[in-house]
Amino acid sequence: MPAGARSRADDRRRAAVEEFASDVRYYVTRRPRQLPSKYLYDDLGSALFETITLLPWYRLARAEMRLIGAHGREILASLGAPAATIVELGPGNGTKLATLLAARDSGSPSLSVHLIDVSPRALTRAVRTVREAAQAEVVSHEATYEDGLLELAQAFGASHRTLVVFFGSNIGNFDPPAAAAFLRLIRAVLRPGDALLLGADLVKEERRLLLAYDDPLGVTAAFNRNLLVRLNRELGAAIDLPAFGHRAAWNREASRVEMHLVCDRGCRLAIPVAGVDLALAPGETLWTESSYKYEVSGLQRALIQAGFERGPVWIDDADRFALMLAQAGG
Ligand code: AVJ
Repeated sequence: MPAGARSRADDRRRAAVEEFASDVRYYVTRRPRQLPSKYLYDDLGSALFETITLLPWYRLARAEMRLIGAHGREILASLGAPAATIVELGPGNGTKLATLLAARDSGSPSLSVHLIDVSPRALTRAVRTVREAAQAEVVSHEATYEDGLLELAQAFGASHRTLVVFFGSNIGNFDPPAAAAFLRLIRAVLRPGDALLLGADLVKEERRLLLAYDDPLGVTAAFNRNLLVRLNRELGAAIDLPAFGHRAAWNREASRVEMHLVCDRGCRLAIPVAGVDLALAPGETLWTESSYKYEVSGLQRALIQAGFERGPVWIDDADRFALMLAQAGG
């Protein structure tokens, strides 16, 4: 390579580090101090999250799979006409969509599947899984949900039906105004008759919520502390990991499980690349994630306010999880 030439991959990496640094600086100096949850999902964080879904105490992923497996045919039939385009936001390892697609009628018309995620590694895996499961063209889009949807919107035609799926209770990571705005964005790219299939974890006893987010094996604690590992590796920090404890708290008023990193004895937080050097008081926390828990009625309301019609709901009673299908209104 000629001297001074830089590859686009290098440019992208540098831009990503700059964005990480500026987000960290912004959020860690706010009150309450925070770190954005999207940074939990680097390669190690994504692997830890996948392990979380296998834990006996984190039941929502299995509850959702049971619902998709048991009601897949009915879900697809509820669309009225077969979907010609399916878009999944954040496909994870692809198994949920693969399970849904396995429920398609054998004589179904051709289908194109679009997977949108910011992680190229997750996309590669999900594409393979979905391709194996369904006779469908599968296209991946390495993009944020918003950018991916807007880019795809032009391809959604009036003559065929599009289904957007948003599984995993990922809607729970948005605070309610952001969730409302996001549902409106999805509605805006759809045509009347197109639909959204939404998976969401419901409010349940505090004891069960806390076990799901503070598991006795400590996998969720590792998932949370991995954010500090990233600060050390990517932003030049030298944070003493054991100084920070993992805490999950149920905030009943806000209807969310909060995940925090707690510095019990007081800590110095020096993050050179982010230009941060501050002292945390004993007991002060860094708030790393919110997982909002909904009631079906609240989600129905949010969907209707975003321009969807009231549609069928499938509920796992044992684990209190809901799949909701909402068609775009005319
Ligand atoms: C992937 C965002 C749905 O909020 O339940 C799991 C992430 N955090 N354990 C969730 C998570 C802690 C998960 N989501």
